[in-house]
Amino acid sequence: MTLNKKKIAIFISGRGSNMLSIIKASQDPSFPAEISLILSSATNAAGVEKAKEFNIPALNMPWKRLGQDEFEKKAHDLLKKDSIDLICLAGFIRILSADFILKWSGKIINIHPSLLPAFKGLEAQKQAFDYGVKYTGCTVHHVVPELDAGPIIHQKAVPVKKNDTLDNLKARILEAEHICYPEAIELLLKNKV
Ligand code: GRF
Repeated sequence: MTLNKKKIAIFISGRGSNMLSIIKASQDPSFPAEISLILSSATNAAGVEKAKEFNIPALNMPWKRLGQDEFEKKAHDLLKKDSIDLICLAGFIRILSADFILKWSGKIINIHPSLLPAFKGLEAQKQAFDYGVKYTGCTVHHVVPELDAGPIIHQKAVPVKKNDTLDNLKARILEAEHICYPEAIELLLKNKV
């Protein structure tokens, strides 16, 4: 039986390692989606070049130059044109407007490098490390207008080791993210959340 694959757009701002983990997962025939579009908010995101190696349409839409309204308008038109079913924010550093989020309500998800609802916002790994938690991790959640507050789809816990440095911990959280994001997409699109 052939799967009726959903269409995913990934929004990035930089290196795109989570984007890459989703692209790689999508190469498995049983994955419920194909990656149709990559949009970057940067002038020259490394992730855009990586996506092109997989022949995925990818483009830089510099948020700073365009301004938020123009970025969101262009993005909306491209997403509509491609009949995108799901938008995955992966290292996307900009905050989308409530208007955009509500237009795509239920169809935008994000990955955050902590076990939400703990350590929302910037430098979540450092916040957890400095607090002295024994476990942190990552969370894939629905995007709602309030920052890092939408319903949780999937999480992975990462233990903090006795002699951890912040950099070691960040690297292990990133490894967990690369497993967590594709799993979350699969759970969501297969209605298992
Ligand atoms: C990840 O740690 C993600 O959780 C955070 O930004 C980082 C992006 O990394 N939002 P990458 O661009 O996916 O490599």
